[in-house]
Amino acid sequence: MLNLILFGPPGSGKGTQSEKLINKYGLKHLSTGDLLRSEIAERTPLGLEAKNLMDKGQLVPDEVVIGMISSALDANPNAKGFLFDGFPRTATQAEALDKLLELKNTGITMMLAMEVSEEELVNRLLKRGMTSGRSDDNNEGVIRARIAEYHNKTAAVADYYRKFDKVVKVKGEGSVEDIFNELSREIDTLVAA
Ligand code: AP5
Ligand code: MG
Repeated sequence: MLNLILFGPPGSGKGTQSEKLINKYGLKHLSTGDLLRSEIAERTPLGLEAKNLMDKGQLVPDEVVIGMISSALDANPNAKGFLFDGFPRTATQAEALDKLLELKNTGITMMLAMEVSEEELVNRLLKRGMTSGRSDDNNEGVIRARIAEYHNKTAAVADYYRKFDKVVKVKGEGSVEDIFNELSREIDTLVAA
């Protein structure tokens, strides 16, 4: 199986590049942000609880997202591979993901970490906030809080995979197409090896 983590701060292009990568490599896209937003849209108790935290730019509890990922893995027994977007975001989530994949006799192939300057992240998200309807995009304070959560809790997840030599850094600035080509090149190099 090809199991990829697309990693990066809020607004780095995870969702944008995921759409292209899942088509090219035939992977199942698992975005915890998208899964949470569909819980919110359906007004489930989980969604309502998560919304409070998401609106403040804070992470939702580990057990909530780990449960969602566990169900999604079980629901896709025939997937060729998974592309994880926005997960794992804490060391606890990373350890839980490794265990879940191990139970399925598979593991993470590699983490692609996109690097984008903070100024560019804020600009992209404020711009999207004008049209997206995402309540965490239309306030600069909330955007900065999301970036702070990333530095405080999430950046260390790359260190976890670095121990296993599974991290490849990719510049996340430039055209969507150029970044996609660079990500594809890294994946193809690894798969061919
Ligand atoms: P989530 O939905 O994961 O959001 P995020 O990580 O904050 O980032 P975004 O989805 O906003 O950005 P992205 O990197 O996908 O970039 P995109 O392609 O959209 O999480 C939301 C919330 O849910 C979290 O704050 C948390 O509360 C909760 N949550 C989710 N997962 C969790 C977890 N595992 N644990 C705990 N809590 C969790 O691009 C952004 C914009 O830039 C778009 O407008 C796009 O068009 C534009 N753009 C993309 N590429 C380029 C480019 N190359 N040049 C210019 N513009 C570009
Ligand atoms: Mg996203």
